[in-house]
Amino acid sequence: MSAVAEGSRRTLAPLGRRRVSVTRRCSYGPYVVIHCHDESAPAPRPGQFYMLASAERWGGGEGERPYLPRALSFLRAPAGTDEVHFFFEDVGPGTARLSELEAGEELWLAGPFGVGFAPPSDGGRALLVGGGVGIAPLAAWQDELGLDADALLGFRDAQHAEGAAVMAAAQLATDDGSAGHHGLVTELLAAELDGGEEATVYACGPPRMLEAVRVMCSERAVPAQLALESGMACGFGACFGCVVATREGYKRLCLDGPVLDAAELLTALTPGAGH
Ligand code: FES
Repeated sequence: MSAVAEGSRRTLAPLGRRRVSVTRRCSYGPYVVIHCHDESAPAPRPGQFYMLASAERWGGGEGERPYLPRALSFLRAPAGTDEVHFFFEDVGPGTARLSELEAGEELWLAGPFGVGFAPPSDGGRALLVGGGVGIAPLAAWQDELGLDADALLGFRDAQHAEGAAVMAAAQLATDDGSAGHHGLVTELLAAELDGGEEATVYACGPPRMLEAVRVMCSERAVPAQLALESGMACGFGACFGCVVATREGYKRLCLDGPVLDAAELLTALTPGAGH
């Protein structure tokens, strides 16, 4: 873990889950954003996550799916409000049900959980690297760091790249070249890192993207923090379903992560990610 005090990276969650209202639903291409009114919880730290389940039609139906709550990093929690926003794509039974929620409907929320990002130790430049739905925690981090935090965002195609609208000024890359650079976001990262200005890299995205970022930063001795994904059953350290191997032994991503220093990872190809 970074030397930055853990307390500045972790807001402790209230005990238990709470029933909250959805106040708004909107979409950006295939991505859905829901706003929730969460008046009983303290402000989360960028990179932390919540466990979500809709209050109705969750478990008990055909095949009883979805059953377990879904772990989602928050997109932003605007200062001075009781709101917390989530950004996700319908990729399975849980996110499909969450994507149906409209203003006025309710969901069960627990969190915030885990440890978020730490600022650059030298007070220098922050470089945010996101892939697909992984841009969510980076939006909250950019909100806090300010527009000096440059963002490099990669998507499958122009339709998915509409999700970039949730962040400020960003360079885009798409797999099919339909928006921005034709290629991988890590190609943009290589150009930035080789450009000479020192930076701390913050990344969240698919495991293969994170592994490329980890290797690239390791080769250049660039500090990096990666927000990892794992299947999470409980979200608070009880089930050990989210462990990843690090140089210091196994760690539970829901407690010691989801943000880990890249230097402590053997690999960013975590089992169970990409669900
Ligand atoms: Fe259960 Fe991490 S999700 S221990």
